Parts: sequence; C-alpha cells; structure tokens
Amino acid sequence: MNQYPYVITVSSEKGGVGKTTLATNLAVYLKALGEDLPVSIFSFDNHFTVDKMFGFAGQPLSGNVEDLLAGAPIKELLHTGQFGVEYIPSSGQLSLLKSGIRGAMLLAKIFAQSDLPGILIIDTRPELDILTQNALYAADRVIIPVKDTPSLENCKNIFDLFEQKGMNRKSLSLIPCLIDSRVKFEGIFKDQKSLLKGYAVNRGFRCFDSFIPKSPKVDSLNTNPDGRVYPILTNARGTEVHNQFSQFARTILAEYRETAEPRSLLYHQWLMEEDERKRAEYETRLTGLQSHCLLCGESFSRDGADSRGFYFEASDGGSCGHLDERCFVKFLLATVHNLDQEFTEDDPTWIMFKNANRESAFAFRPHENGAGKVVEFSRFTLQGELLSKKSYPLKEKSGGIFSREKNPLHSLMIDTLEEQDGRFRDAFLFIQPVNPERPEAILAEENYRRFSRLKQQVSEQLS
Ligand SMILES: Nc1ncnc2c1ncn2[C@@H]1O[C@H](COP(=O)(O)OP(=O)(O)O)[C@@H](O)[C@H]1O
Ligand SMILES: [Mg+2]
Repeated sequence: MNQYPYVITVSSEKGGVGKTTLATNLAVYLKALGEDLPVSIFSFDNHFTVDKMFGFAGQPLSGNVEDLLAGAPIKELLHTGQFGVEYIPSSGQLSLLKSGIRGAMLLAKIFAQSDLPGILIIDTRPELDILTQNALYAADRVIIPVKDTPSLENCKNIFDLFEQKGMNRKSLSLIPCLIDSRVKFEGIFKDQKSLLKGYAVNRGFRCFDSFIPKSPKVDSLNTNPDGRVYPILTNARGTEVHNQFSQFARTILAEYRETAEPRSLLYHQWLMEEDERKRAEYETRLTGLQSHCLLCGESFSRDGADSRGFYFEASDGGSCGHLDERCFVKFLLATVHNLDQEFTEDDPTWIMFKNANRESAFAFRPHENGAGKVVEFSRFTLQGELLSKKSYPLKEKSGGIFSREKNPLHSLMIDTLEEQDGRFRDAFLFIQPVNPERPEAILAEENYRRFSRLKQQVSEQLS
C-alpha cells in the first residue's frame, strides 16, 4: 500500500527567529518519542545545518534537495542520519534553480507520489519565495516562530498568501521563540511570551501553548571544534528549553496521529481524479472525430497509419475531425491560389506550399456581403497573428452554370457549418496543422487547451 507523509513546514520571513533550530530539534524529539515513527527532514536554506546535525562523518552522499526539485524519487535522496532521522542533503545552489520552478504545487505533487511514511519536516529560507510557497502549500502544519513584534507583524504575509490562494489558514500556527524569561512587564501581559501570544490571538493567529525559551546553552550547541550542530535533547537535558521541546513534540505527534488523511494523500486523490477527468475528456473528443477526410472521403485508419496532417473544428464545436495533409494543401492551392493542377510529391512548388501551410492556422467564415454569399478566408500564424484575409464567392458548383462538379469549398462549409437547407450557423471553421505522426495528440489536455486558446484568439479577430 502506498504511504503518504504528514508534512510540517517551519517558516518565517524573518531570519534568526529560530526556524532551523526548531525544525532540526523537532525531528530529534519526534524520533525519540516513537522509535517506529519515520521522521525525515530537509532544508531549503544553504547553511547546511541539517547536514551538520544529522550527517555521519565520511557518510557517502548521493543527491540533494536540488535533485528533489528536479524530480528524483524522494526515497532515493533520503539518507539515514544520526538519531535515526532521515535527511536529504542540502544544496548551496538552490537560488539558481528558482526561476525554473513553475508554480507552487510542485512539492505537493512530489509528496503525493513519494510513498514516504511518517513525518517530513521542511526548514525554509527567511523569504516567501517560490520554494517557501511550495513548502507552505504542501504542509499539513505550518509552524511560524515569532520572537518579537516585527516578526509577528511579518507573519501576516503568510496568512495573506493563504487567504489569497483560498488555502485553509487553520494549518498555520505561531510559536513564541527565543523568549527571554528574565524580561518581566507590569500589567496583564507579564512576560514576552504572554505578550506575543496576546498580540497573536488579537490578530486572529493561532498560537501553540508551548514556547521556546532563549538559552545560551542552545546557542553554544552550534559552535564547537567539530563543526557539528548538536541537538538539545542529547546536550541540554534538564533545561527549560528541553522541557518545552518535549511538550511541543508531544503536541505535534498528537496532531499527526489525529490526521487520518494528510494533504499528500488528499492531493494524490485529487491528481488521480484529474487524470481520470482528462482521460475521459480526451476520450469524448476522440469519439467526436469524423472518421474520414471530408475532402476526399477516404476513411482514416484507427492505428494512425495514414496521412492526417490537419485538424479542423467548427468554432461552435458542432463538427471536428482531421484532414488528409495532401488533400488540404491541394484544396488550398485550388481554392485560395487558383492553382488547380497535379503536383508530384517532390515538386519544389508543392514542397514550398506544403511547408508554408504547416506554419499557419486557417479560418473559413461563410456570410453574406453586398455581392451575395461569400466565404471569408483568413490565415494566421500559429501564435494567432493575422497574416491575410480575402473573401471568395460561395458557389455550389465549380466551373460554369452547367457544371455538375461540386465546389469543394462549398462542400466543406456544408459538411462542417450547415444549419439546414444550405443555411449556415453563425460560426467559422478553424483548421490547424497537427503532427502527422500523432494526429490525435492535439486532443490531449495541454495541446487541446493551446488549440482552444488559439481558436479563441482567432475568433476575436474575425468578428
Ligand atoms: N532557544 C534558543 N536560545 C538561544 N539561541 C537560540 C535559540 N534558538 C536559536 N538560537 C540561535 O539563534 C540563531 C538563529 O537561529 P536559527 O534557528 O538559525 O534561526 P533562523 O533559522 O530563523 O534563521 C542561531 O545562532 C541559534 O543558535
Ligand atoms: Mg534558518
């Protein structure tokens, strides 16, 4: 059975409020509370504290958080570290990578597919950049350390971000950090901790009961000749910081146990539903396709072993299908360029026309102007820029009045846009080249969205 991690993100736009100390020590305390509870951690910061606390000397490392963002499976990046905590090695290069990250749901998606059990803790940089946003969106619990009023004011930005994106602000909780117990006040808020909590609650921010006292002992755990970072649990027992961390870790563990469905699982379910919806939509589009080329009448084979080179769709969705590449290029030559002659495949004129037409999109709009029924023909770039526009008379028969030969332009309009009795719907026929190797790929999610956008752009320029 697949597993889904419960994700905790420690975040604040302020530096030096105790994020990293909190994230790393919480991992150690949680692990100590449950031997069997898998606890993992990684940091988006570039100070390598995670590595200094959890890495073993000489431990062979493969991969780091950069690889995580590049899509490497998270389980392959985790290293078993000190105190039984699993960690992903840090990277000093993340800022270079940021511009390439599209959207804030990347991590959520990675965790949904991670098959990772237990609790995963993320330490973030003191900014609301795209990496922090990803860590926030993926989190079941966001812990925001605050040490003074400026850091408290600052966390409004995280709350605002959640508000903007329609995310549940319930996952956000503040914790007073670096509290100097010696500082006392007159009045209802008798110390720093109560004052910060009072302010937080006043602003509608949820606050943990625990707090992290300021302790010179903690500070000293970062500085030693070994270049390591030591945890509070093993090196500062008997202190108030230790007591508070123990209590805090129990609170977090209880929250974890109460969460039957972590966000990674919910997101996984949502992704599955999305995939299913996309597949169903694709199937529906596929079944709506004409089975033959409207220009020559030849049936298309189901295995794609034919020469479908263009896709057409009536702007009102009333008709859609493919056109044989050779048929449509010939049709354009005859109808638009008045060049009704046979070409061999290697004829330079033919090749030139064929290639030029593969770079364009086309719109045919039948309507009445002063001179009678016409078809307005427009040619666009694949970016939606109008290249040319010209009207052609719409006649049922080609040649003179005694001719019996059907006019292909008229037939195409009837086949795709007829309402009844030779009258047309108020719509246009839109045609775009497709990859002949995979002509149906245009109907798949992202491609079809692009096609629809282009059609919309064209529509705005026709009316
Ligand atoms: N409870 C504490 N008592 C004393 N010093 C602390 C405490 N927590 C953190 N520090 C020190 O404060 C500094 C900033 O802490 P850090 O966890 O790196 O904050 P951030 O990640 O928010 O920048 C570090 O030097 C750290 O040793
Ligand atoms: Mg930090």
